[in-house]
This record gives sequence, C-alpha cells and structure tokens, in this order.
Amino acid sequence: MAHLFDPLTIGRITLRNRIGVSPMCMYSYENGMSNDWQVIHLGARAAGGAGLIISEATAVEPRGRITPFDVGLWSDEQIEPLQRVTRVIRENGSVPGVQIAHAGRKACTDRPWLGGKPFPPESPLAWQPVGPSPLAFSDAHIQPHELSVAEIHAIQHNFKAAAQRALAAGFEWVEIHAAHGYLLHSFYSPLSNQRTDAYGGSFDNRIRFLLETVREVRSVWPQDLPLTVRITGTDWTEGGWTVEDSVELSRRLKQEGVDLVDCSSGGGVAGAKIPEGAGYQVPISKAVRKGAGILTAAVGLITTPELADEIIRNDRADIVLLGRAMLRNPHWPLHAARALNQPAPVPPQYRRAF
Ligand SMILES: Cc1cc2nc3c(=O)[nH]c(=O)nc-3n(C[C@H](O)[C@H](O)[C@H](O)COP(=O)(O)O)c2cc1C
Repeated sequence: MAHLFDPLTIGRITLRNRIGVSPMCMYSYENGMSNDWQVIHLGARAAGGAGLIISEATAVEPRGRITPFDVGLWSDEQIEPLQRVTRVIRENGSVPGVQIAHAGRKACTDRPWLGGKPFPPESPLAWQPVGPSPLAFSDAHIQPHELSVAEIHAIQHNFKAAAQRALAAGFEWVEIHAAHGYLLHSFYSPLSNQRTDAYGGSFDNRIRFLLETVREVRSVWPQDLPLTVRITGTDWTEGGWTVEDSVELSRRLKQEGVDLVDCSSGGGVAGAKIPEGAGYQVPISKAVRKGAGILTAAVGLITTPELADEIIRNDRADIVLLGRAMLRNPHWPLHAARALNQPAPVPPQYRRAF
C-alpha cells in the first residue's frame, strides 16, 4: 500500500514523495518574464520538502493572461529567466513542473489584491479576450471574440510552442490547464460553449479542442516526461459538466498519452454552489482514477498530513497537491513527515531546527 512519503516514478522522473505544490498565480511579472520573486517563492517550497512543484498558470500567448502581470512562455526570451527557477527547484530535490495556460474569456482582469476586477474596454491595460462563443463570463467582463477554427489551431500551436520552451527552460513535468473556466474548460463545458461547428454541441465536439491540444503538446514533449492535464471535474451546476463526463474525458486523455489527471472543479460559471470542505474534490479524483484507469492528483482543502496520507493509502489519488497550506507554510512536507513518523527531507542547513 502506497503512502504519502513513498516515491512515485513516471517515465524518467521520480518524485521523492507524493506531495506537490499546486499551481498558484503570483501576478508579479513584467512582459511575462520570470524574476527573483518566482525563484525565492518556488525555491523555498523545494527546500521545504515538496516532491513536485507545479509553477503557476503560464500563458501561451499574451491574450491568454489572466492579468497583465502573469508569467508567460510565448517568447524565447522567457526561457532563460525560467531556467533559474527550474534549477533552484531541482537543486533542492524537487521536480520542476509548469502549468501552461490560456485564460480564454476570463482574461484581462486586475490583480486579486487590487480587487481582481475585469478591466473595462477603455482601460489602457485591456484587450479583448477570446472564447468558444461571444458570451461574457459576467456583466463586468469584456465580451469575448468567438474563435474561428483557424484561430483555434493557432492557439493549439502556441500550446505546443510553449511546451517546447518549457522543456528548454528545464521543466520536467508539464500540466495543461483545462480547468476553472479558462479557455480549454470553456470549450468542453456546455455552459459556455454554444458553437454549432466541429468544436461545439456534442460531447465529442466539445472535448475536441482539448484533445487536439494534448496531441500537439505530446508530439513535442518527451514520451518519458510526465504530461498531465488539470480538469474541472464538475461545474457544480445543473446542465453543466459532470464527474461522469470527466471519467470519459480522462479515458480519452489516457489514449492520447496523458500520464495523470489533476482533478479540480468549478470556475466555469459564477454562482455555482460548491460544497467546499476538507478534501471536497477527492471523490472526483477517485472516480477518475478508478473509471479511467489513470493516475490522478487530488487537490482542494487538503491541509492535514493525516488526510493527505489517507488519500494516498486508500487509492483515492496518486499525489496530493496543496495550495494555500503551502503558502502559509513552505515547510509543510517536513512537518508532515514528522507527524507521520516518516524520514523528513530536511535540508542539512536546517537540521538543527528539526
Ligand atoms: C493564490 C492562488 C493562485 C492560484 N493560481 C492558480 C493557477 O495558476 N492555476 C490553477 O490551476 N489553480 C490556481 N489556484 C488554485 C490552486 O491551485 C488550488 O487548486 C486551490 O487553491 C485549492 O487548493 P488549496 O485548498 O490547497 O488551496 C490558485 C490558488 C491560489 C490560492
């Protein structure tokens, strides 16, 4: 029976434990260029003992940023500063991962700590977001431009190019962001996709954008490095995307060579009633893992070592990802190891404190 501190091998990489830092936007960059903040932020969490660090949503094109301050991988110039990030993560015993993303119709907002509101069209910082249909996420959001098929293919190409740059930057794990109402999720959810062409309507048509994107990325991402996808497991809304849909989608993702599905939820529509509580998304992970026979990550209000360990021991996920708990305490894995009587990956420089 696997437990939280067992290593996990996928292809040529081995995580030292099953604890990952969930991708978390820092909105702290100019022109999409990584900087010292990302080095210290992620370096600290590697020294804190996480097995995997998935760096934040990293835009595949400028239009796909959530805010003008997101980090990106749309240009070769962005590779070198990210090499510093991957180096510090690897040197501290963790595996560097990156989430490649396109914000779709939820793009073009201000930083959360400044209110997080969408910029009005007249703002000098605004641009027109894109989406499956000309349906704004809210009254305050700019109406998205409905993507043509040629434009869909161009964005898929940008995902592929971003994956190539991620490899050059030293990342060893790539996660395609297909959750939280951003572009790829907005295509597969019937709540945001009203298209009548090959990318809308039936289940097969709605998942087409994501499957084709995965195929593009897999064609350049080494077979022996993990390719993973974060999904919204349910829209938590009548008439929306369901866990059963997620199981079927995950079967198809597996056929396309995806190694692991990261099971999040929500974000597609405002006002969904989400039953947030400890480990509330874990049942999605369990259903996908069992139903699609694929490795999964569980995420969402996993804050105690006992819960994290139980999820792994009971085969409800293969890894757990922690977000806010890791912001509060970068050394969460070291404390968890102590709590669970497992050897803690304490950096030698810190041993006198542990
Ligand atoms: C500051 C912050 C930024 C986030 N940015 C991202 C992101 O870039 N990509 C993503 O998929 N999820 C993002 N999330 C969601 C987290 O990855 C995670 O799924 C969520 O916070 C639930 O996990 P937690 O309860 O452990 O925080 C973010 C969450 C926080 C708190």
